[in-house]
Amino acid sequence: MAVVFKAQDNIRLDEQNTSEELKHNQFFNQLFAKEFERLEKQGHTYLDYTGGGLYGASQLEKHFALLKQNTFGNPHSTNPTSQYATALVEGARKAVIEYFEAYDYYCIFTQNASSAIKIIGESYPFGSNGQLLLLVDNHNSINGLRSYCSNRGGTYEYVALQEDLTVDATQLRAQLSQVNDTNQRLFTFPAQSNVSGVKHDLQWVLQAQQQGWDVLLDAAAFVPTSPLNLSTIQPDFVSLSFYKMFGYPTGVGCLLVKKSKFHKLIKPWFAGGTVRIASVRANYHFLENNHERFEDGTVDYLSLPAIKIGLDFINQIGIERINSRVTSLSDYLYRELQKIRHITGEPVVQVYGPTNRKEVGGTLAMNFYDARGERYHFQTIEHEANKRSISIRSGCFCNPGIDETQHNIYTAELEDYFVSHRESSHQEIVEQLGHTRGAVRVSVGIATRKQDLDFFLDFVHSFKNKTQ
Ligand SMILES: Cc1ncc(COP(=O)(O)O)c(C=O)c1O
Repeated sequence: MAVVFKAQDNIRLDEQNTSEELKHNQFFNQLFAKEFERLEKQGHTYLDYTGGGLYGASQLEKHFALLKQNTFGNPHSTNPTSQYATALVEGARKAVIEYFEAYDYYCIFTQNASSAIKIIGESYPFGSNGQLLLLVDNHNSINGLRSYCSNRGGTYEYVALQEDLTVDATQLRAQLSQVNDTNQRLFTFPAQSNVSGVKHDLQWVLQAQQQGWDVLLDAAAFVPTSPLNLSTIQPDFVSLSFYKMFGYPTGVGCLLVKKSKFHKLIKPWFAGGTVRIASVRANYHFLENNHERFEDGTVDYLSLPAIKIGLDFINQIGIERINSRVTSLSDYLYRELQKIRHITGEPVVQVYGPTNRKEVGGTLAMNFYDARGERYHFQTIEHEANKRSISIRSGCFCNPGIDETQHNIYTAELEDYFVSHRESSHQEIVEQLGHTRGAVRVSVGIATRKQDLDFFLDFVHSFKNKTQ
């Protein structure tokens, strides 16, 4: 049963002076003890929730009990074991639809968010007049859509980021209004950046649709800590991965397709499970008329029951409560990081993104500087963090647009570089263009405690007044 939790803006970790704040912290400490104790036993400080969420121990227990006590057959049949598997797969689908209030959508199970996005790439009817509009702040799995669009003669354009890694709404409106006379227009953006944590405005969905764009919302980094209600915000397509929401299982994501846009997607081939009937002697096949059309082959029917278990886990805690917790954790971390300074007064870390953190989730991208103001290589920081069993992420996070913006790398120099090389690596491009690149990413989630952040802050302190 879902727990109703009223989000409080001001639940602070450092000044717990109301009973509400104490209760909130107590709740998460108890949750940690019950579900995530393994982290403490193994001495982990896990701060890579944007990379992957963590599962609660009870999720595994429930799933393994189900597997141990039952027999499952391939759902593409009508025998008893098959029927049982089908019932659980359909139970998972229903749970997803209910969780997102996605009653106007088909839920297509995929391997992950990237393969959900790939379905759109393969099937969206970009023609020679097709238009694709993306944000510079996109994961590579979205950036890759431009290949589908341009291979079919369409054009793509990026909406630039401002210095604080947000999008200028006026600029976006102007780009959305540049349309040609086709109905093959796809606008795609991440509901939350996987690097800066910036939450892009969900109102853009309707704005874009009013200009005749179809909208693919990449919700992968947003849904683990924020509610998404698809009865109020209605993108045409939504992609996500479940391991980012509740850690287990990996290998399952979904594409939600608005029913009214289902027939706009043209599946370029057929496979087992996707057809009602196909002939070999005659070159004909009739596709299934629902989610099955896009679920190639056999779905992961042993893992799918764990999706309902995972969603129940989130519902029992309450996504509003998780959201509020993550907001207070990231506010605390952001505030405390600003305070850590070298003797010169310069901060040890520079956090990227807006200084007003109201529309930023639990992901902080940063770089570390020594007492002379020289930036540390992100690998050095990750290496040092590893020694303390702190799991953070470093590099470019599959989001080259943010990295190129942060480090002021211009199109012309990138183009020159790419046309003069047949292959390359991160190290080579850094050496040849002479720009340092990359950052360190810290992200918080359901099992993060204040003491984890304090441990990380201690780590940051250890760089104080040091030189390389
Ligand atoms: C915003 C965003 N989109 C898409 C993806 C791709 O997800 P997956 O690797 O699960 O396919 C990620 C993964 O980090 C992401 O953060």
